[in-house]
Amino acid sequence: MPPSETLAVTAKAKQLKAQGIDVVSFGAGEPDFDTPDFIKDAAVTALKAGKTKYTPASGTIELRKAIAEKMKRDNGLDYKPEQIIVNIGGKHSVYEAMQAVLDEGDEVILPVPYWVTYPETIKLAGAIAQFVYADRANSYKITPQQLKKALTKKTVMLVLNSPNNPGGFTYTPDELTQLAKVLEGTDVIVLSDEIYEKLVYSGTKFISFASISKDAYNRTLVSNGLSKTFSMTGWRLGYTAGPLEVIEAMGRLQSHMTSNPVTFAQDAAIKALTCPIAPDVVEKMRIEFEKRARFMAQKLNSIKGVFCTEPTGAFYCFPDVSEHYGRSINGTKIGGSNDFANALLEQAYVAVVPGQPFGCDNNIRLSFACSLEQIEKGLERIEKWLTK
Ligand SMILES: Cc1ncc(COP(=O)(O)O)c(C=O)c1O
Repeated sequence: MPPSETLAVTAKAKQLKAQGIDVVSFGAGEPDFDTPDFIKDAAVTALKAGKTKYTPASGTIELRKAIAEKMKRDNGLDYKPEQIIVNIGGKHSVYEAMQAVLDEGDEVILPVPYWVTYPETIKLAGAIAQFVYADRANSYKITPQQLKKALTKKTVMLVLNSPNNPGGFTYTPDELTQLAKVLEGTDVIVLSDEIYEKLVYSGTKFISFASISKDAYNRTLVSNGLSKTFSMTGWRLGYTAGPLEVIEAMGRLQSHMTSNPVTFAQDAAIKALTCPIAPDVVEKMRIEFEKRARFMAQKLNSIKGVFCTEPTGAFYCFPDVSEHYGRSINGTKIGGSNDFANALLEQAYVAVVPGQPFGCDNNIRLSFACSLEQIEKGLERIEKWLTK
């Protein structure tokens, strides 16, 4: 199994920075804001109150109740606390859901572009990814016709990720309804990764796949977490909600694998999900991301041979740069996204992630989890480098 390539780029950029080079990094997969103080304070209070011992392996009942309330309030979904498991980050939620559901030889429909972790976690569960290639013209979203064509007798799971990493797109309620209709009458389970739900732009409305219909609710595992919404990537808090049978299976696995998520972090999570000031704090971060999304996409589109759909969610631009493939820049032949990203970092000191590990070699991924000044500086460097 290859290491996570998104982490590899960040490591290389850090190495150059350590040599004193002024690198602009668009590699980050985490918000550049600090965790809000009211959440940190809750963790300190919990620590001081001695919340330093084991909790139930699937998370405290208080936190599972707080998640159930959040899902009712924000997503219109009814879950009992037993239908919810708290995981060690969103990544762990995805891994464990696949381990619980998939068997050797099962097929998983995976829309391309995809988050780098999905193909590896599918492989780890012994299953086989069936890639469905979405079109640039459709903002990299798959169509109901494509989904229908990809279904076989062996299909056990569909992985949906909206808002999407790396694509920066969000499925509309209508598009989700159409996809849900294709699955009616099948036994396919949908793993809906909704970790970027609060980061939507330009009037986009987020809707959970599970809330599309009763049929969708019954077949969906919602994967979510606190990492992106509350800028809590280091706290390792994710959760999964869905059919009791699957959540219980995940709980059994978790009880042998990791046991509970960090005890005092769970108290902080309750605070994040229930504190009345939380929505305003989250909204402030969202507004900042929205400004950057528009600015970055417009700038990218003004560069010759770069085509970027304006993001409607998450914090990534995913432009097609393939018009530049086949060129030689400063003596380096650019054959694909890996060459492009390497040469850009070495020659212009801008770190981006190649699209190849996301299944789209025509593209590169730029995170806008950095300041507007950095975005401006980095994109000017890219433009200058490409017009050489
Ligand atoms: C689509 C997607 N899902 C899940 C995660 C996992 O987040 P974490 O494990 O940090 O909670 C990420 C992180 O980059 C992501 O981009």
